[in-house]
This record gives sequence, C-alpha cells and structure tokens, in this order.
Amino acid sequence: MYKFIIEGDRELNGSVRISGSKNAVLPILAATLLTNEQSVLHNVPDLADVKLMLEILEELGCKTSFANGTVVVKPIDISRTLASYELVSQMRASFCVLGPLLANRKRATVSLPGGCVIGVRPVDLHLKGMRELGAKIEIEHGYVHASADKLVGKRIFLGGNAGSTVTGTANVMMAAIFAEGTTIIEQAAPEPELESLAQFLTKMGAKIKGAGSHKIEIEGVENLTGTEFTIMPDRMEAATFAVAAAITHGDVTLTNVVPEHLFAVLEKLNEAGAEIDFSNNDEIRIIGKDIRPTDIVTFPYPGFPTDAQAPFVALLSVASGLSIVTDTIYPDRFMHVAEMNRMGANIRKQNNSAIITGVKALSGAPVMGSDLRATASLVLAGLVAKGTTEVHRIYHLDRGYEKMEVKLQKLGAQIERAEYTPRRRKSDRQAA
Ligand code: EPZ
Repeated sequence: MYKFIIEGDRELNGSVRISGSKNAVLPILAATLLTNEQSVLHNVPDLADVKLMLEILEELGCKTSFANGTVVVKPIDISRTLASYELVSQMRASFCVLGPLLANRKRATVSLPGGCVIGVRPVDLHLKGMRELGAKIEIEHGYVHASADKLVGKRIFLGGNAGSTVTGTANVMMAAIFAEGTTIIEQAAPEPELESLAQFLTKMGAKIKGAGSHKIEIEGVENLTGTEFTIMPDRMEAATFAVAAAITHGDVTLTNVVPEHLFAVLEKLNEAGAEIDFSNNDEIRIIGKDIRPTDIVTFPYPGFPTDAQAPFVALLSVASGLSIVTDTIYPDRFMHVAEMNRMGANIRKQNNSAIITGVKALSGAPVMGSDLRATASLVLAGLVAKGTTEVHRIYHLDRGYEKMEVKLQKLGAQIERAEYTPRRRKSDRQAA
C-alpha cells in the first residue's frame, strides 16, 4: 500500500494544468457501447476509475487501449451483456452501462453497485426511468436483469428526495437514444458533465436538446456512429487545487479550466478571504489571504457541489471564526471530520452539518483516507499543518486525481508517495 508523507506549512506558488474530468469521462466511456464502431477520446485522465471502466468495457466485449491521454474503444462481441459484481461493486458509475446495453443490445445483466462510505447510493431512479421507457427490469441475486425488444419514448420525472440524479440522468438519457418517438426527462440533473455527454452523443448522431438544464429532450434515432471527442476539464480537481492555494496562502494559477463550472466554489473561496481572478477564459488565479469563516450548504449544480464539501471543511478548519458546512446531498459525507480533529481541528458533526470552530494551526499527524474527496481534504490539511502528516490509503485518491503529488510538488509542496505495509493486529497475524 502507499501513503503520502507531507511536510506542511509551505506556500504553494505557480501554475497547474487541470486534467480531464473523471465524472465526464466515465459516462462517456459507457456511451461508447451505443455504437458498434470505434470511438476515440482525448484528454482522458490517468485514473484508477478510468482503468476500471475500461476493464468493464472489455468484459462487455470491447477492445480498448489507453495511452498518452487517448482512449480507443471498439466493440467486438456484442453478445456480451453481463457487467459483473466484482467490477461494478468497485465503482458506482459503472452502473451507467445499463442504459447503453439496454438500448443497443436489448438486454443487460448489471450488478447493483451497492453503497459506499459517503452514503447508501440507491439506483431506484435509474430503474424507474428504464421501466418508464418500457424495459422489463427484475432484480435477483444482487443483479439487475433488464430486457426490451423495443423502448418507447415518454415524459419521465426523474427527481428524487435529494433532488436530481447525475448518473441516473446519464443512464436514462442513453437508454432513450433509440427509443421510438421523443423522451423528455423532467428534473434532469443540470451538471456540466451531462452537457458534455450530450455533446458526445450528438457527435455520434443522437438528437438531444436541453442537456445542462433540468429538462432534456431526446428524439429517438436509428443508430449512432463512432466519433472522436475531447474530455472537458475536471471541475472538482480544479476546486481542490483552488483550496490548496487558499489554505497555504499561496498564489496559484489553474490552467485548462472552465470558470463558469466553478462559480459557486469561487464565490465561497472569495467569502473565505481568497482573491480570485478569472479574467482569462480558461484560467483561474487564486491568491490566499487570511482565511475568514463562512457557511456552506451543498446543492445540485449550479449550487455548491457536495464533492467540494470535504476540501472546504479543511480550509475552514483554520479560519478565524465559526463556520457551518451542511451537506444536503450526502448527509453522512463527513468521514474526514474525525481525522482532521486528530490534527487539532475543532469540528463537531451534528446531523448533516459540520460545526467548525477555526483554530490557529493544525498539527501534522498520521491520518487515514476513507473515500476520494475525504482523502483529498486530508492532503489539504497536511499542506497547512505544522510538521509531518502521513495520509494512508491514498488508493482512494488515485481513483480521481491524476498524479496529485507530482502536481503539488511542482507548486512547491513537500510531499512524497511512500510504500508501507500496514501493521496487522497480532490476532490477524496468528490467524494467517
Ligand atoms: C455523481 O454521483 C458523482 N459521480 C458524484 O461524485 C457526486 O457526488 C454526485 O453525482 C452528486 O453530485 C459521478 O458523476 C461518477 P446522484 P451519482 O445520483 O450520480 C440520490 C466524486 O467524488 N439518488 O446525483 O451517483 C442519492 O442518494 C463522486 O467524484 C436517489 O435517491 O449521484 C444522492 O442523495 C462521489 N436515487 C442524490 O440522489 C437514485 O436512483 C444525488 O445522487 C440516484 C440517486
């Protein structure tokens, strides 16, 4: 296993290029199943989640390659329609293969993804959309068995108790691509990653209007062709590095970004005292100043994103006052709080909020990652803490951040990746 060893209390300065978006490329990789021709994707980030999705596509009869940021997918054996528990249970987004398989291969057997540390992660809305299009859906032994000789377009309300669903909207949009007539998705997720998916599908020949809004209209077509496409920048990596600049009182320019994807995050960074400049249309400059407290509530796009919640808890843990951070999307997404308190933070979890009393300084400590964004927030805390911080289980980070330590080193951080063997309890050793 690997850990990060960080010597904290160093300003970050310079510029960093933001990689392609994990949450854009994953549904687009699933969408390559909608054609039997070759698809080519550029600016693909080198992430564990991308490699896992390529394994799932290979399990579904595709030939894939991935080199120098370019992925090539060529479906070969379209009789393969099983996405196994061993792969799907490792990454929820792989459930997005259901819609394309149903649409283009008329049947699918996809493992239910299960939950993770940030929440239960149900897929009831995904399945509701498929059934509304006319698919036969049965759940047995932890798998969704879906089939449909013909899908018929209709108006589908896809809102849930926590608002819209990002991958649910992607899944249903893809299932509707060849459906007879027109499908309208009401309370669709308006995230930019869905707009990007729709751009990819439109390049393949799909007829989609309204992606990026709460109402998406899909007019069924006969088939899709292969195409070439460049993945949009990762707005969550950008948010994470923006916090890294602010928390270390540094001066960092993010390049290859889309500022409008980050307005809610930049607004809160500004409220927290940072100086923000996005006069260049694909760059954002963040200058860290004294960190002020502020309150945050997460919402679906364009509201403050839940994926930036943990990084901002790190930032506000060293603000000059009291902040309250509430997550309305994932009420339990606070595994980072206990670890930050071990670094001297003063944070109380109360229902779906973190009550943060800012402290003058954090102290470096060994801490443990639990999920992608929580682990990133512990790295951010380590960058500002006095002394040495060891962040364990950074395999969580490698799922969604491309070469994070290399990018941070180039900005002046003292951070190394080191291999370690976790010490097992004596009882475990004796049992082995
Ligand atoms: C996407 O997950 C992102 N992942 C998540 O990013 C992100 O946190 C999340 O959207 C919210 O923005 C990808 O895009 C691959 P949802 P997704 O369906 O689609 C409830 C990261 O760190 N819900 O929008 O799985 C659900 O419980 C990851 O990069 C239902 O009730 O999230 C949640 O409360 C973590 N029924 C809310 O909706 C459903 O059928 C939003 O979930 C589906 C969802």
